[in-house]
Amino acid sequence: MNPAIAVTGLRKSFGPKVVLDALDLTVPEGTVFALLGPNGAGKTTTVDILSTLTPADGGEVRIAGHDLHRDPAAVRSAIALTGQFSAVDTLLTGRENLRLMSDLNHLGRKEGQRRADDLLERFDLVEAADKVPAMYSGGMRRRLDLAMGLMADPRVVFLDEPTTGLDPRSRRAMWDIVRGLVADGGTILLTTQYLEEADQLADRIGVLDAGRLVAEGTADELKRMVPGSHVRLEFAGPEPLRRAAHALGIAPADEGSLALEVPGDGSVAALKSLLARLDDAGVDVAGLTVHTPDLDDVFLALTGRPTPAEVTA
Ligand SMILES: Nc1ncnc2c1ncn2[C@@H]1O[C@H](COP(=O)(O)OP(=O)(O)OP(=O)(O)O)[C@@H](O)[C@H]1O
Ligand SMILES: [Mg+2]
Repeated sequence: MNPAIAVTGLRKSFGPKVVLDALDLTVPEGTVFALLGPNGAGKTTTVDILSTLTPADGGEVRIAGHDLHRDPAAVRSAIALTGQFSAVDTLLTGRENLRLMSDLNHLGRKEGQRRADDLLERFDLVEAADKVPAMYSGGMRRRLDLAMGLMADPRVVFLDEPTTGLDPRSRRAMWDIVRGLVADGGTILLTTQYLEEADQLADRIGVLDAGRLVAEGTADELKRMVPGSHVRLEFAGPEPLRRAAHALGIAPADEGSLALEVPGDGSVAALKSLLARLDDAGVDVAGLTVHTPDLDDVFLALTGRPTPAEVTA
């Protein structure tokens, strides 16, 4: 099966400033890819190029099977984009904004109305439908913005920082919407500065720093890439502890505790071999926990900076 998004060697500079430096990216259909990175990393630039708003300087891009360079119109008809800055027309009501999208997409009156009603319902905007967005909260505007993009029933949805500035409840509502889109078979590329968001939503995560992907993988794979992973073993008494410490050649974590911390990546293979060594030494393990660093640790390790959320907090 062709990936929904396939990017190779994507380049973009603004004047002398290199913003994207040979970016490669593949997103299989029906999955969520999160592009994670600090301010200025190139997230919006990437989304703008993939959604035909900004021309690239070089590289190959295919979206839903269409070549971005040769057939931008086909790409446009397959995608929706919800930007970091909203496209909502503030003079029109919510429902009128959706009708505008229906007209732009030539949906026809009946079909347009049906889809608008469905989206207003799904995005909890029924009561707000006939008010102008000036009376909406930030979260409601984001939801309307996304609903507008979904009027055309896109295969691929780009979300540029969909939850920045939203309160935890609105953020969760947006996460539910994203999960619903994927359940319906959609493919999503989202950008975020929130590690938790990437952790919650994404099948795969790319860490973008200064125009390059410095890491890519599942949340668990990324967490295993940074030092600090260990397996904590607990024992029922000092005797098995002593024998385990001897067998593994490490000292107990702290004086008086019945635990050992074994550095390792926490993978199944590493656990198997660890347990086999203990088994060979005839040691019973009372408890075992795998500790992996969280994505904040990953971000710090990969970019050399704390996460943006920490900087602004
Ligand atoms: N139109 C433009 N002209 C000149 N420079 C630009 C333009 N658009 C973006 N840049 C520069 O490109 C770099 C990447 O910007 P981009 O908006 O893609 O970052 P971002 O990862 O989306 O950041 P943020 O988290 O702040 O949204 C920045 O240094 C920015 O100043
Ligand atoms: Mg941006």
